[in-house]
Amino acid sequence: MDRDPRERRIYFEPAATTACNERVVSAMLPYFTSAWGNPSSIYAEAREARKGLDAARRSVAEVLGAKPNEVVFTSGGTEADNLALRGVAAAARARTGANHIITTAIEHHAVLHECEALAKEGFRVTYLPVDSEGLVDLDALRQALDDATILVSVMYANNEVGAVEPIPEVSRIVKERNARIIVHTDAVQAAGYLDLDVDRLGVDLLSIAAHKIYGPKGVGALYVRQRTPFVPQAVGGSQERNRRAGTENVAGAVGLATALRLANDERASRTEHVVGLRDRLLDELPRRVPETIVTGPKDRSRRLANSASFAFKHLEGEAVLLQLDLQGIAASSGSACTTASLEPSHVLVAMGVSQKYLRGSLRLTLGVDNTIDDVGYLLDVLPPAVERIRGLQPAAGR
Ligand SMILES: Cc1ncc(COP(=O)(O)O)c(C=O)c1O
Repeated sequence: MDRDPRERRIYFEPAATTACNERVVSAMLPYFTSAWGNPSSIYAEAREARKGLDAARRSVAEVLGAKPNEVVFTSGGTEADNLALRGVAAAARARTGANHIITTAIEHHAVLHECEALAKEGFRVTYLPVDSEGLVDLDALRQALDDATILVSVMYANNEVGAVEPIPEVSRIVKERNARIIVHTDAVQAAGYLDLDVDRLGVDLLSIAAHKIYGPKGVGALYVRQRTPFVPQAVGGSQERNRRAGTENVAGAVGLATALRLANDERASRTEHVVGLRDRLLDELPRRVPETIVTGPKDRSRRLANSASFAFKHLEGEAVLLQLDLQGIAASSGSACTTASLEPSHVLVAMGVSQKYLRGSLRLTLGVDNTIDDVGYLLDVLPPAVERIRGLQPAAGR
């Protein structure tokens, strides 16, 4: 039985994006309608915009435990990741010619595709393996570090299976080998649920995006520790202290700052809320749907608070998503399906997930608006949906 589309839809996709919080929208509005001046100019209209931009920068810096001049506003997580890698790579090439980059096999494509591009330009890239739960192999990191290593980029929390990587340990290992090696972390999924203090993490660069934390799309930030050798990629005006040219997205920066501040202030209550829902899913879903595994860390303290992920044996995840959509539920397979031929997720492949489960992934992420009834409804409609799909498949396919 399909759900009446006029009924409320249930959204299990905050890891993809979130609705903009009304308080965030209110904070942004004046920068569209009254304080819309160019913050680089000197007259009154400009000064209002400059004030907003400066306050946003201070606020973001405070949450990161950083200095305001270490925050570079970007057009989102992708640009922050690209800029981190390319900015450091270009600086190293110009200064010393050293060319070795270390990352992991499970990064977001914003990191992986940039690494592939840098490899084509002569950089050497090592992709660290992860274990069956998606946690990075720290011994492999120790072995990979060499005299030519310039940059280590390890994500803070994985967007498909919620694995929380041990960033303070990664930084310690790297800096013990050579304090000049730059450490970057992609904290796009971690923001809102994990400590973002850059000193406690020990990182030199950190990426965040507003739209995963109830802020606007198309704005993010890259933290760049003072004195990090760094070559800007967008050139032109001298905005962002010459690290990213272009008239600033003032309203966006204010939106990011407001969303990050709210996420930080409400972190404990938001975490408690989503962990309860996540744990119900992790406990109950494999019990109700036969031949299902939980993907990602078994130890829930090593799992992102809002992330539950699964894989069904001998099933196309996309078929499940379509069934759920008909029932009013938005979910994802967790893998980027960019072409008609559905590639299995590089994350699950790196974790060594068996072929039988590789195409049957389901990612359910939780947000502030989800309720225990949402979870109950999903747990009711999913088992018959999976049974239906399995029933339609030829026996050989199972
Ligand atoms: C871990 C991670 N990094 C980077 C990005 C890219 O961020 P944006 O969509 O803001 O460009 C995402 C978005 O899905 C992500 O999950």
